[in-house]
Amino acid sequence: MQKTFFIKTFGCQMNERDSEIMAQSLGSEGYVETMEMEGADLVILNTCSIRAKAEQKVMSLLGYLRKQKQKYPAMKICVAGCVAQQEGDRIVARMPHVDLVIGTQNIYGIGKYLNIKNGAAGKVVTSLADSYVIPKFLPDVKQKEKKEDTEGGFSRFVTIMQGCNNYCSYCVVPYTRGREVSRKISDIAEEVKILVQSGVKEITLLGQNVNSYGKTNPVASGDEKYNFSRLLRVVAETSGLERLRFTTSNPKDLDDELIDCFGTIDNLCPQFHLPVQAGSDSVLKRMNRKYSVKEYLGKVDRLRERCPEIALTTDIIVGFPGESDADFQQTMDLLETVRYHGSFSFKYSDRPGTRASGFGDKIEESVKSERLARFQKRQDEISLERNREYVGTCKKVMIEKCSEKETRGRTDTNHIVHFENVLSCGPGDIVHARITFAGQHSLKGEVVTP
Ligand code: SAH
Ligand code: SF4
Ligand code: F3S
Repeated sequence: MQKTFFIKTFGCQMNERDSEIMAQSLGSEGYVETMEMEGADLVILNTCSIRAKAEQKVMSLLGYLRKQKQKYPAMKICVAGCVAQQEGDRIVARMPHVDLVIGTQNIYGIGKYLNIKNGAAGKVVTSLADSYVIPKFLPDVKQKEKKEDTEGGFSRFVTIMQGCNNYCSYCVVPYTRGREVSRKISDIAEEVKILVQSGVKEITLLGQNVNSYGKTNPVASGDEKYNFSRLLRVVAETSGLERLRFTTSNPKDLDDELIDCFGTIDNLCPQFHLPVQAGSDSVLKRMNRKYSVKEYLGKVDRLRERCPEIALTTDIIVGFPGESDADFQQTMDLLETVRYHGSFSFKYSDRPGTRASGFGDKIEESVKSERLARFQKRQDEISLERNREYVGTCKKVMIEKCSEKETRGRTDTNHIVHFENVLSCGPGDIVHARITFAGQHSLKGEVVTP
């Protein structure tokens, strides 16, 4: 009988892509994926350690799995991803029921580490090399369509780099993902071409720091020197690619060449996730972000000049060590100035090994909660006002789901649009829609003929 595996993914899109890679790798070892954790031969938790809460979720699921293993003694448990990389041996020491701990650079070989005898001590494979070369790994074009809970394979992620060299003082990523390495441009172009030829319409290029693609090592360039803007132009030219997006960017590396891509590359979507983190220069300095509020706002202005319809989103941390009321007010002021379409905001969380974890002047939990609530309330109001600007306009919407129960899609600005009537369309189709209603987090529309 074929062995089954269940994989649960925490954290960012890079982890989602890594889970697809592990799933594909296991498929070629004869495993089949199951959507039920209960009774699976292998359970993989692909983990995130960006904030303490993310890590706690993993630990409590591992506690639950200890009991599951008593019920199904042959079940193997694997911890992958950022918690695995950071905690390594400590995981098996604390949790002897874990069979395999696999680091962020080791996932491609997951199959070969699984030959573990029942009752043997947990294996830990967490090597993190500075000179890491992202393997050439051609995608399984059918992978997403096989999953019951996804809406088809029209939209896919493509990893273009790994790791991060920025060492923002609060962040674990440089420790969990290692040094920044860029993937070979010919491998990226080949992967995109295979996906698009198989019917994929939308590609999102992934990295923690995509704007510095090609800067840190020659692997990206082959014979020629490539930067992120040139990579975007190469990928955008893939015949049949309707929509191109990317995430994530550090504003310090956003240059005029990239700003000029907006409005000049037809299939590059007019949206930009540009995490600012804080609106106070002194906080930004202690965060080691390497830009000032003024420089950031200059870039926002240039993006909007180049591409007036661009939708901007951001990430915010409130309650960074030493953040005063006046510092926080500057974050609120920045929100009023930029009026983001949306944002993700978090309470600062101490992470082991980071510089900020050693800073004095930690902010009380109650103050952090109050600041977070204030920020989120105002952002919700602004998101609603922004969304109302779309009412009455016509937008191209790429359908994500089309069933009796629900029909919805996304605009190029990354806004979700719900349709009330069942449409005769399928995932990946583009319809022209008039926006009829705006909520805080989504829009409603009706189909019109173009
Ligand atoms: N590479 C991206 C960020 C990736 S992490 C960038 O440079 O902007 C995603 C978000 O998690 C960050 O933007 C930040 O807002 C948040 N984050 C990271 N570390 C955090 C911490 N220690 N506490 C709270 N939020 C954190
Ligand atoms: Fe973390 Fe900063 Fe790197 Fe983003 S740029 S992943 S926040 S260290
Ligand atoms: Fe989390 Fe690692 Fe991504 S810490 S946000 S899964 S890079």
